[in-house]
Amino acid sequence: MLKINVPIIQAPMAGGITTPELVAAVSNGGGLGMVGAGYLKPEALLQEIKAIKQLTDRPFGINLFVMKKPVVDQEKIDKTISILKRYREALSLSSDITEYSYVDYFDEHVQIILDEKIPVCSFTFGIPSNGTITRLKGNNTIMIGTATNVKEALINEEGGMDALVVQGSEAGGHRGSFLREDTSGNIGLMSLIPQVTDAVQIPIIAAGGIMDGRGLKASLLLGAEAVQMGTAFLTTSESGANPLYKKAILEASDDETVLTKAFSGKYARGLQNKFIEEMKEYEGLLPDFPIVNTLTGEIRKAAAVNEMTAYMSLWSGQSPTLAKAESVASLMKRVMEHDPFN
Ligand SMILES: Cc1cc2nc3c(=O)[nH]c(=O)nc-3n(C[C@H](O)[C@H](O)[C@H](O)COP(=O)(O)O)c2cc1C
Repeated sequence: MLKINVPIIQAPMAGGITTPELVAAVSNGGGLGMVGAGYLKPEALLQEIKAIKQLTDRPFGINLFVMKKPVVDQEKIDKTISILKRYREALSLSSDITEYSYVDYFDEHVQIILDEKIPVCSFTFGIPSNGTITRLKGNNTIMIGTATNVKEALINEEGGMDALVVQGSEAGGHRGSFLREDTSGNIGLMSLIPQVTDAVQIPIIAAGGIMDGRGLKASLLLGAEAVQMGTAFLTTSESGANPLYKKAILEASDDETVLTKAFSGKYARGLQNKFIEEMKEYEGLLPDFPIVNTLTGEIRKAAAVNEMTAYMSLWSGQSPTLAKAESVASLMKRVMEHDPFN
């Protein structure tokens, strides 16, 4: 279906990580490179696509956020702005953010996918409208949804998705969940794959904590047809992640990740740091995703410039100790050559 030779999909990772070099290296290696387009302006997405096409003739995909329109609760926004003031001061940012603005480029992104004849499009946080699905189907774009439980999997299948990323609670970055926002029903990948496999007919792609051939083989054994790996690709030389971020993952221990709403307003898994720890008590007061993401944007950027990992979002899955500093080719070779039965 995806016209790939090895069952490895590089997770789309919005925020500058999925460089054209990363995406093309994965596709050239016989897997599927994916662009995390969630936060990209349309011109930037188009530029990335052109750059990738210069580097590979193999198929690659684009991932989009299907966002609910956030409730713009001015009281919550003002409160959050005042809570964030101390971080802005610590980073010598002017203390006067007064407004929240956010543009959802979803429709423009879909138009680019159609115009550029991108073969694969994946979605997270929900499924798109029937109109969008019909347009993409008409273009023969393979559509991949994301589910974190059986109910979400069934909705994706009924909605017309061709395949499904099944995201376990181990996964780094934002949870793709769209039916419930609390974390008490989170399901680990080993429980999730067989239950979703029994419930839907479409092929399943396993995601969450998979770093090597053991994770791949286990996922296939449980019923998945491929894996989607994020954290493992994040530390490769082709990834655009900040060097300090890569270093933090390479040095992290297994028990350092937490789920937090502090950076964006939606639960995501990352390495615990001062910002997450201090913001924990305010999580219930924060406005919707992606409003918080916009409000923390300058803090995250300034923290990276000032090399202060205490205030950076360091998304990581639960297996950081298995991450290596290596090339995409070396990672993919390692994953495919591993034989756990030998
Ligand atoms: C830094 C980072 C950014 C991510 N951004 C996205 C994204 O834009 N879209 C998406 O569908 N998933 C995103 N994810 C989640 C991945 O698709 C995948 O579920 C996750 O990486 C799997 O867990 P692992 O990191 O342990 O491999 C992101 C993950 C990370 C680590």
